[in-house]
Amino acid sequence: MPKPASPPSQQTANLLRQDLHPALPVLGILGVGHFASYTLAGLRRGGFSGQVVLSPRNAEVARTLAKEQSCLVAGSNQEVIDRASMLLLSVRPHQLADLLKDLTFRSDQIVISAIAGISLDEHRAAGPLPEQLVRMIPVCSIEAGEGIIPIFPSHPLVEALARFTGTPVALESEEQFDLALVASCMNGWLYEFFGDLADWLTNKGLPEDKTREMILHNIRGATAYGLLKKNETLQDITQGIATPGTFTLDGLKQLRNQQGISAWTKAMDGVLGKLKA
Ligand SMILES: NC(=O)c1ccc[n+]([C@@H]2O[C@H](COP(=O)([O-])OP(=O)(O)OC[C@H]3O[C@@H](n4cnc5c(N)ncnc54)[C@H](OP(=O)(O)O)[C@@H]3O)[C@@H](O)[C@H]2O)c1
Repeated sequence: MPKPASPPSQQTANLLRQDLHPALPVLGILGVGHFASYTLAGLRRGGFSGQVVLSPRNAEVARTLAKEQSCLVAGSNQEVIDRASMLLLSVRPHQLADLLKDLTFRSDQIVISAIAGISLDEHRAAGPLPEQLVRMIPVCSIEAGEGIIPIFPSHPLVEALARFTGTPVALESEEQFDLALVASCMNGWLYEFFGDLADWLTNKGLPEDKTREMILHNIRGATAYGLLKKNETLQDITQGIATPGTFTLDGLKQLRNQQGISAWTKAMDGVLGKLKA
């Protein structure tokens, strides 16, 4: 059994004083792991100064977050709920029913769920939740202040919270939300892809301190350019660069011949199939 975290210091206890943060919600987090860590880091980095109360399980991570991100660790999950106006559920899908067992929410509370692959109906089937239940799943790049934050259904206060970390996008249905989740998975694959490209440059002799920059800034440049050229399709941008006789076209043909591009959409098909299963 993990040890519960120690009582709050005076500094963290002050964080519970609503009068110090009158316009911001008190955010309670149930499930303190990887997702909660980067979301909290993103919120604080983006200037969210509201009170945050953490569930006590996984005491070491909770203690670290309490220290680094100025939060309070509650004595129990129910205490998190009792102190908060907005709750973030960030346990793993199979842990939801066990989490909700024996917990009581107030009817005016807003519950945000980051749990992937579970519909709103399935959330409600897992245990009693208040009327305002919103799905919101940002990717880890929000810790760097960048990223799209899929939300369903639209909720002005949840979107206001998300704005501290990146760009909220409210989807119109859970089907759309699932498609956004597929794009989030794609985001996760990118780092391995970038790493292989950087390793190739290193192996060919580019100094290691340059390869990461070379790859990441080329990719950041491409995303900035794609966002700038709103009137062109993304494929048209490549067509404009990979003209006959260019090295770019040579490489592009190799990628196409080896399904180097279509493999990505096939992987997206696979994830969507699993989300719908
Ligand atoms: N990580 C990501 O990049 C990411 C991205 C998008 C969405 N998500 C979603 O975020 C959720 C959490 O993922 P994660 O990667 O953060 O998992 P994680 O690192 O395992 O964190 C989940 C935390 O919840 C705790 N927990 C489990 N049951 C609990 C309970 N009854 N009361 C209090 N705490 C409890 C776990 O403690 P124990 O370790 O003791 O079980 C763990 O500390 C998942 O549903 C996932 O779909 C994650």
